[in-house]
Amino acid sequence: MSTASSTAYNYKVVRQFAIMTVVWGIVGMALGVLIAAQLVWPELNFNLPWTSFGRLRPLHTNAVIFAFGGCALFATSYYAVQRTSQARLISDKLAAFTFWGWQLVILLAAITLPLGYTSSKEYAELEWPIDILITIVWVSYAIVFFGTVVKRKVKHIYVGNWFFGAFILTVALLHVVNNLEIPVTLTKSYSLYSGATDAMIQWWYGHNAVGFFLTAGFLGMMYYFVPKQAGRPVYSYRLSIVHFWALIAVYIWAGPHHLHYTALPDWAQSLGMVMSLILLAPSWGGMINGMMTLSGAWHKLRSDPILRFLVVSLAFYGMSTFEGPMMAIKTVNALSHYTDWTIGHVHAGALGWVAMVSIGSLYHLIPKVFGREQMHSLGLINAHFWLATIGTVLYIASMWVNGITQGLMWRAVNQDGTLTYSFVEALEAGHMGFVVRMIGGLVFLSGMFVMAYNTFRTVRASVPAEYEAAAQIA
Ligand code: HEM
Ligand code: HEM
Repeated sequence: MSTASSTAYNYKVVRQFAIMTVVWGIVGMALGVLIAAQLVWPELNFNLPWTSFGRLRPLHTNAVIFAFGGCALFATSYYAVQRTSQARLISDKLAAFTFWGWQLVILLAAITLPLGYTSSKEYAELEWPIDILITIVWVSYAIVFFGTVVKRKVKHIYVGNWFFGAFILTVALLHVVNNLEIPVTLTKSYSLYSGATDAMIQWWYGHNAVGFFLTAGFLGMMYYFVPKQAGRPVYSYRLSIVHFWALIAVYIWAGPHHLHYTALPDWAQSLGMVMSLILLAPSWGGMINGMMTLSGAWHKLRSDPILRFLVVSLAFYGMSTFEGPMMAIKTVNALSHYTDWTIGHVHAGALGWVAMVSIGSLYHLIPKVFGREQMHSLGLINAHFWLATIGTVLYIASMWVNGITQGLMWRAVNQDGTLTYSFVEALEAGHMGFVVRMIGGLVFLSGMFVMAYNTFRTVRASVPAEYEAAAQIA
């Protein structure tokens, strides 16, 4: 081991992932705006298979979840695990491999999805050769992360690392089990499961992708960056441990709420519903722990837009984890399922929670790993905060209105039992909502451009000597 590697953190890989988070955020959200516009103006499908909504939609979900969200998780977990362990990542080479390997996965997704190669499982569309690459990169990630925890210089393992660790382990398990498939050609495979079993495995995966990729990992981020930015210790360490075990124990059972009123056995649907209702408690426990960390530091919200990002993300987390259990109630789901209400719920979590907590964390982290005091402009962070908040609110409010309208119109019946409205009438009623959602998306995306500019100015003002000085282990 060289001297540098024992006295300095590996910030290079953090810098790489941080920059790519901004890049993929712009790409993924621009795709979101494009597909939102296609729902307003179908001509934008250009009558070509490659640019059709059906192919670009999974490209959007993969780009925002795995490229944007994934890079944010890599960057923040590598940063936090080193600092809380007072140790450099165990292997620079393996860490670099995870960076380049993950970018290759994203590139392959960007090529194969528009070409129509898909395993047809939502959030697991990528075909088997890419699945194998993901597994190799993920195992390397686990080795780097847990290896660093093992060689830590401090006695205890900080709770943020528990969340990151659970996210890494569970995603490995979910990915491998759900993607067991029989390849027929290089670009086509069939799932090992069939019928209701296939559906159950898929939504065990799908829901826990939400629970562990979009939640546990980002809670790891929350537990590190909220106390750091607020300059206060975590409100309750005891609550954080209860939060961790309760969340892990309950999430894994809630998947069947995606399959209400299907061929799945009724008891499994009811179990999923009950577990989803119970999930409200650990979710809110975590949110309250994050929020209360600001006790005695609330005044900082007046002058610190980074803290605002973090606190508002927690508010959206609380909101979407209240809404989710409500939607899991079978009678509520009978109205919400298939409607834009689900899409609104998704983006309350995705934009309000996942994107905002990532953006706040990155504004804290970027200057640190580039050896600067702070970001180039605090005013631009503030502008970004408002664009992100207004964009999110426009998105979810329009989808609530659309969703409830659709649900009510679809189930309205005349006295003789015939349907009151045709499907097209319900579609027309949603047109204005689609326009507002697209505008909300554009507003959110414009904030990402502001972030890119602010990041560019911050990075340009820095020099390698400053990076190195910043990486020294204190
Ligand atoms: C500018 C921001 C965004 C816009 C305009 C946008 C737009 C869209 C649109 C139009 C859809 C398809 C809806 C439909 O089929 O009716 C969609 C789906 C989806 N988006 Fe986004 N999106 C944005 C950001 C994000 C982010 C940041 C994430 C995740 C971190 C995300 C995750 C998803 C998911 C998971 C779905 C699929 C939902 C489902 O199947 O129920 N989106 N998005
Ligand atoms: C206590 C927590 C939560 C519960 C119980 C919950 C419950 C639900 C329910 C019942 C649905 C609708 C299923 C359907 O009708 O098809 C749903 C959809 C969804 N939720 Fe949540 N939710 C929670 C939190 C979250 C969070 C925090 C996020 C994002 C960060 C999220 C992302 C999603 C996505 C992506 C879908 C759409 C899946 C699809 O059909 O493609 N959820 N959730």
